[in-house]
Amino acid sequence: MDTGLSPQTLQFIQANFPVLPVPSVPEISLHKAVPKSGLWRLAEMDAHGFGEPYWAHYWGGGLALARHILDHPETVAGRGVLDLGTGSGIVGIAAAKAGAGHVICADTDRYATAVARLNAVTNGVGIATFLGDMTANPPPTVDIVLVGDLFYERDLAARVTTFLDRCLGAHIEVLIGDPWRAFLPHSRLRLVAEYPGLDFGQGAQARERQNAVFSFRETVHRDKPCLGKSPKRSLRMLLCAWRALHCYSPCSMIPMRWNVSSMRF
Ligand SMILES: C[S@@+](CC[C@H](N)C(=O)[O-])C[C@H]1O[C@@H](n2cnc3c(N)ncnc32)[C@H](O)[C@@H]1O
Repeated sequence: MDTGLSPQTLQFIQANFPVLPVPSVPEISLHKAVPKSGLWRLAEMDAHGFGEPYWAHYWGGGLALARHILDHPETVAGRGVLDLGTGSGIVGIAAAKAGAGHVICADTDRYATAVARLNAVTNGVGIATFLGDMTANPPPTVDIVLVGDLFYERDLAARVTTFLDRCLGAHIEVLIGDPWRAFLPHSRLRLVAEYPGLDFGQGAQARERQNAVFSFRETVHRDKPCLGKSPKRSLRMLLCAWRALHCYSPCSMIPMRWNVSSMRF
């Protein structure tokens, strides 16, 4: 298959990034970075530029969304699905496993789309991939857009929100998985479910937290606030606001060579 990566690069990933069952989503196994994977060597092999290796890690939003879809297959069964910002492909793969009609896994990183395809084969499901930035495009021809952990930077969050608005305008349902990051469009969200799980990474540096699944909606009803109904949720919203004001980036698993300074976790 033509993935946009050289055969050597694909072989390197297959040989050094073991296929491991995903914590809290054991139905899915993914190629995963481990300490001996040699991310540096992989980056050095690439003359065309190597971005942040999001595709090699677990993210709280994707973990929650994948869990939710597998527990509620009716969310996607028989429907056209876009997994926006697919990373490892975890959300799109969950949708395909849950019986989606067709699944498009989109990402701006060619490593992500290539690894999503490898991971789909590993999990015995079929997906299509789209390499590029769909947020500038008209709404896709799908029934539901799934967004796992794509609200980690202010500008990106704004672009994604505008795109999702266009999708709602085209009567496309939108579900977002996210560990309550700062740049979520909070006033537009209705909490659907929460799942305890990792926020980012694994091992000693991983943090356990509540990862949420939200539905993104058009209007804000003043009499029915989406979030903050309970004191616990209100506290969480305050925490999100605090994070938005302060540079809070405990993402220490990604080597500093990859610029994560603008991310807000
Ligand atoms: C934090 S990772 C989440 C990956 C996956 N959804 C998950 O939850 O495990 C974010 C992913 O979004 C991708 N991304 C960033 N901007 C994007 C854009 N404008 N369109 C599509 N993907 C984008 C990144 O390359 C990365 O793979």
